[in-house]
Parts: sequence; C-alpha cells; structure tokens
Amino acid sequence: MTEVPHVSTHDAPEDVRNADILIYVDGKLVPREQAVVSVYDSGFMLGDGIWEGMRIYDGHIAFMDEHLDRLFEAALYIDLDIGMTRADLTKAVHDVLAANAMQTDAHIRLMVTRGKKRKPFQHPHLSIFGSTVVIIAEHSKPDDSVIDKGIRLHTVPHHRGMPLTQDAKLNSHSKLNCIIALNHAIRAGADEALMLDPFGFVNTTNACNFFIVKKGQVWTSTGDYCMNGITRQKVIDVCRANDIPVFERNYSLVDAYSADEVFLTGTFGAQTPVFEIDGRVIGDKIAGPVFHRIRALYKDLIVQS
Ligand SMILES: Cc1ncc(COP(=O)(O)O)c(C=O)c1O
Repeated sequence: MTEVPHVSTHDAPEDVRNADILIYVDGKLVPREQAVVSVYDSGFMLGDGIWEGMRIYDGHIAFMDEHLDRLFEAALYIDLDIGMTRADLTKAVHDVLAANAMQTDAHIRLMVTRGKKRKPFQHPHLSIFGSTVVIIAEHSKPDDSVIDKGIRLHTVPHHRGMPLTQDAKLNSHSKLNCIIALNHAIRAGADEALMLDPFGFVNTTNACNFFIVKKGQVWTSTGDYCMNGITRQKVIDVCRANDIPVFERNYSLVDAYSADEVFLTGTFGAQTPVFEIDGRVIGDKIAGPVFHRIRALYKDLIVQS
C-alpha cells in the first residue's frame, strides 16, 4: 500500500463547540451528556429505525424536502409511525439549529426509531410507547485536505442486497452490511469499501454513491441496490442541465480501474475524489477537471436552492 495518511469521506476538523451542544430527544432540548434513550429502545436493541443526514450551508438546510420525502417513504415501508408531521419535524430541526446558534457548516442527524419496547424482543407490537425522535446537530465541515489526498477504495466480497432482503434504499439504523464491508476494506489498508451488486457490477461504497468519468462521460450504477442518494441525484441533475453526458448503467471493475476520474457523493462530503481502487492508481492521482466542474455546479445549486 502507498504511504498516504488515513482519510475518510466523513473527516472533519474537531470543533470544541460540539462539547456543549443541545440535542433534541423526544420534544426536549437537552445537553449532550444527558441526551440518552432507553436500553429498551427499538433502535438500540434491533436497529429498528431510520435516519437522515442533512447539511447546513449559509443559513439553510440543503434539499430538506428530499430528505423528508425519503424519511417518510422509509417509514411507510417499515410500518413506522413517526408520530410527527413534516411540519413538526421541520420545526424541530430549526429549533435545534436556533438553540445551538448554528448558521452554517453544521451537520444534522435526524433519527426516528420504533421507540421503547415493553420487553426485549423483536415484535413491533412490543413498541407500545410511540416513536423515539432524536436530532443531533453538530458544527461540522468536511476536511478540505481530502480533495488533495483522495480516497483509497478496496473492493470487498460483501455485496449490496436485493430489495428481497433489506432494501438498500432504507437508511436503516442497522448498517451492519456496510460496517462489515468497511472493516474488511480497512483491514486491507483502504479508506472505504467498494461494493458490487449481486451480479458483480460496480455499485456503491459502504457510505457514499460511486461515479466514474471516462472520456468525458460520467457513469454511475443503474441505481438498483444502492442508496437513492440525494447528492447522487443532484449530480445527475447538474450534469444533465449542463450538457455533461451522464449515464446510469451497469459497468464492471474493468471500466472502473481504467477510469480517468472517480469520485464519491454524499450529503456530508458532497463530492470526494478517489485516487486508488484495489491498488490501481486512478488517472493522475489528482482531482480531475470533471470532478471540479461538477463540484462547482453542485455548490451553485445549493446556493440557488
Ligand atoms: C450507503 C449510503 N450510500 C450513499 C449515501 C449518500 O446519500 P445522500 O447523498 O443522500 O447523503 C448514504 C447516506 O446516508 C449511505 O448511507
């Protein structure tokens, strides 16, 4: 392995203000150290919950409607009564930001579980106390050095599931499949895990959506088997709006290893360049021109939104 300092798509410089943040727990704003849920909570016991990660730029939450759409779609699918409307959740999120005087460069984790259980068993009917809603907002800004360092990926044997098992479109509290994949990649000396679909086509990483650039064209997976990432969709949208050829298609590692540029997308890091996959160096090991163009267009979109 090359001697590149460890880096991740979710690295952020430490911010001392986060020691004193207030966290929303079921309608109350409480200091971080007192922000707790029951050991009987469905999320803690079983991973029975869903969440959204959102980012604040210059006083506004980027693409909040899309995040709430995805949360409510997931809740409907898993039969979870959030117990709050979109307006309630929106107000709660804004209350957290106001209580913490957060204007920009903050990251929100909005979590909803099936709530406290009567007994420590799986049956959803044991969750008789209503949902648990927690909102953590932290001062957090991606470490810009990741653009120069680039991410190293390792392709892992753990593939993305079919909708027949746990649909990859659920931002579930249980991320074990992704965590096992990431552990495997870390043991192989990489920063993040590249995951294939059940047929061996390149799909996604454990925490981000995956794009390659070949001869000026931008390729990403068909969208099956991966998180329906909001950043992924916005990147596709900005490409289409700016005459950058973009394709959602099947492709394999043959195409990925020989790509001119590779990058990842996700709410926190926006777009993050990849410089190495399975020991193969990508392009010139620098963030390429298509990456920079898309990143600039995405920034403009956030300003307009
Ligand atoms: C597995 C996975 N892929 C991709 C993403 C990125 O999605 P988004 O762009 O909506 O943040 C996430 C974010 O939660 C994720 O968990």
